[in-house]
Amino acid sequence: MSPAVPEPSRRVVSGMRPTGPLHLGHWVGVLQNWVALQKQHDCYFFAADWHALTTHYESPGALSDLTREMACEWLAVGVDPERATLFVQSGVPEHAELHLLLSMITPLGWLERVPTYKEQQEALADRDLSTYGFLGYPVLMTADVLAYRAHLVPVGQDQVAHLEVTREIARRFNFLYGRGPAFDQLLAQARNRSLPALRQEWDRLVKDYRESGTASSWDAIESMLGQMPGLTPEERGALGAEARGTGRGILPEPQPLLTPGARLPGTDGRKMSKSYGNSIGLRDPEPVVREKIRTMVTDPARVRRSDPGEPGRCPVWKYHETFSPAATREWVQAGCRSAGIGCLDCKEHLLAHLGEALGPVRERIEHWHNHPRDVDEILRNGCMKAEREARGTLSDVRSAVGLARRG
Ligand code: TRP
Ligand code: SF4
Repeated sequence: MSPAVPEPSRRVVSGMRPTGPLHLGHWVGVLQNWVALQKQHDCYFFAADWHALTTHYESPGALSDLTREMACEWLAVGVDPERATLFVQSGVPEHAELHLLLSMITPLGWLERVPTYKEQQEALADRDLSTYGFLGYPVLMTADVLAYRAHLVPVGQDQVAHLEVTREIARRFNFLYGRGPAFDQLLAQARNRSLPALRQEWDRLVKDYRESGTASSWDAIESMLGQMPGLTPEERGALGAEARGTGRGILPEPQPLLTPGARLPGTDGRKMSKSYGNSIGLRDPEPVVREKIRTMVTDPARVRRSDPGEPGRCPVWKYHETFSPAATREWVQAGCRSAGIGCLDCKEHLLAHLGEALGPVRERIEHWHNHPRDVDEILRNGCMKAEREARGTLSDVRSAVGLARRG
């Protein structure tokens, strides 16, 4: 843990690759989470178009169109540009600059060891992924996150290994560049401004922590840091970094915020994925949704209408859990187990509630789709805001590695 620097409202950064129309799994798994987070945190959500190129560089399609259409879907489900900053990765060149600087300090082994590196190369064997850019995927992700000094990164389980690389790169950066004259000066200033009696006590605690390295000795340091009067957050941070024996935390280590696992299975009961052909798209017209639900697998034990079933074994039930009100859910539970209802009946009720949820989303997608200039403007404003923020980080990063100031 970082020292007791008082934390402003927590910052959240997350990205999504624009690879085509989103489905219910994206909505329920990822976007509903974003909508909740934007109410409590300072959120930056972006379309990771450069990341899309790492795997689709041979057939990128119109990435700008894919990006705009994905933004339509975000807006339609309630991701709110008034609350969160919505932008496009390639619209903020600081991501690329930070990626370059971080690439200098990232050992190759860290990237080669990421499990998804080999897995993806095998899964996408029809493409040549032995490229520099694909190997650097996690470094680009790291730049995305660190450019905003994010605290929290909502990701699925498949991205956790990438976030671990992010944390290692941040740690290495701070270790390599966190000291230096500016840090030493800040530290001297902090010591001068702390009360002499406290300073003695502080030195004793630090010595104790260095020798024992125990959690309780670190706790003592943290509580002491909290008590020292009259220090700025930066001065406190410098003292904490000195105690830990690391440098100033120029780039804080972010924490993954695990997106609760896929709550909605696909229509065949497996994980919902466009490549499995088992997904229900946010843009699917009503008759298409109806047909997909009609042919959706149910509890295999219900061969005949008279066989009782168990909702816990049925993908349709998962949809009821997400979209149907309590009364319907009770009706399903009781009727399924007693064979009082048939699966067609059950699906009919689901369709009604799914339609209530999906209908307005479909309409709003249509609305934004018909107002592309409005969407572009939202993204442009988001890019400007994001860039202002990222520029501040890059200016610190440049000076930390000893490069000249820009402009
Ligand atoms: N790699 C992520 C995915 O495929 C998308 C992504 C790119 C991302 N940059 C990010 C997610 C930064 C979180 C933070 O899902
Ligand atoms: Fe599934 Fe509903 Fe059929 Fe039960 S009645 S098996 S919950 S579709």
